[in-house]
Amino acid sequence: MTTAHLEHVLDIVDEATLDALESLAHQAAAAAGELLLHERPADNELQVATKTTPSDVVTEMDEAAEAVITSLIRTFRPDDAIVGEEGGTTAGLSPVRWVIDPLDGTVNYLYRIPCWAVSIAAQVLVDGQWQSVVGVVHSPALRSTWHARVGSGAFLDDADGRERLHVSGQTQLSQALLATGFGYDAARRAEQGRTLAHMAPRCRDIRRAGAAAVDLCWVADGRLDGYWERGIKLWDHAAAALIVSEAGGIVTDLAGGPPGPDVVIAANSGLWPDLVAELKVGDVLGSGV
Ligand code: IPD
Ligand code: CA
Repeated sequence: MTTAHLEHVLDIVDEATLDALESLAHQAAAAAGELLLHERPADNELQVATKTTPSDVVTEMDEAAEAVITSLIRTFRPDDAIVGEEGGTTAGLSPVRWVIDPLDGTVNYLYRIPCWAVSIAAQVLVDGQWQSVVGVVHSPALRSTWHARVGSGAFLDDADGRERLHVSGQTQLSQALLATGFGYDAARRAEQGRTLAHMAPRCRDIRRAGAAAVDLCWVADGRLDGYWERGIKLWDHAAAALIVSEAGGIVTDLAGGPPGPDVVIAANSGLWPDLVAELKVGDVLGSGV
């Protein structure tokens, strides 16, 4: 982000408002994380339903966590808009909206694999486009909270304290550790498998950890060199993309524009061109199903 753009954003949202948004994002993420970690019913009692496809699951805990977050936002900032994955969506009267994934990595959570997170972004409208100004990705099972505030850098809070984040310096695709993910639609997943087959021989290795927000935060903290995924939703990347960019990375679509439902690509600026070029080869990213 250029200094001029940052100043423009700070004309729209002042530092006192950013303080309030940041503190509420942390409070809401901590409350939802506490609930998800400590109030999870036993496996045979956890209520699970399906959404878009039989593999797209939602648990009662996804919904309970979203209710905790939206209730806090409505209490402290009743005029803000909310976009929540599980339907906690309301229009707002203020220039701020919240984008919430109460539980990113639901399938991991269901199987008690610790890679899942609460993701909360606060956004403001800048020249007609919503832009994240605060992002918190909180993973209680990984004992990690990644967070960023526009223009102020990105940080990881964990057992070792607070660390300022920087994306990796790996610029060689052949030496890069990448991550990706798969959607819930079978036809799209078949295409994503073909993309994986194309990319796997061209990089160091590929991870599929199961939570897009964590994948992106791992790009921010340099554990991964890059990430791509087709079809992820705004709530999967709204908070984590700010964390990547505040850590010095780039998060875009295939054309270098803002990330969107088509594809999200994240890397350091040295690796990004080769990663994008490889994803552009032929129809390696698929036909758009
Ligand atoms: C999913 C996870 C997964 C990604 C899927 C997402 P959910 O989110 O982020 O890693 O591959 O595309 O839908 O359903 O667990 O919130
Ligand atoms: Ca989710």
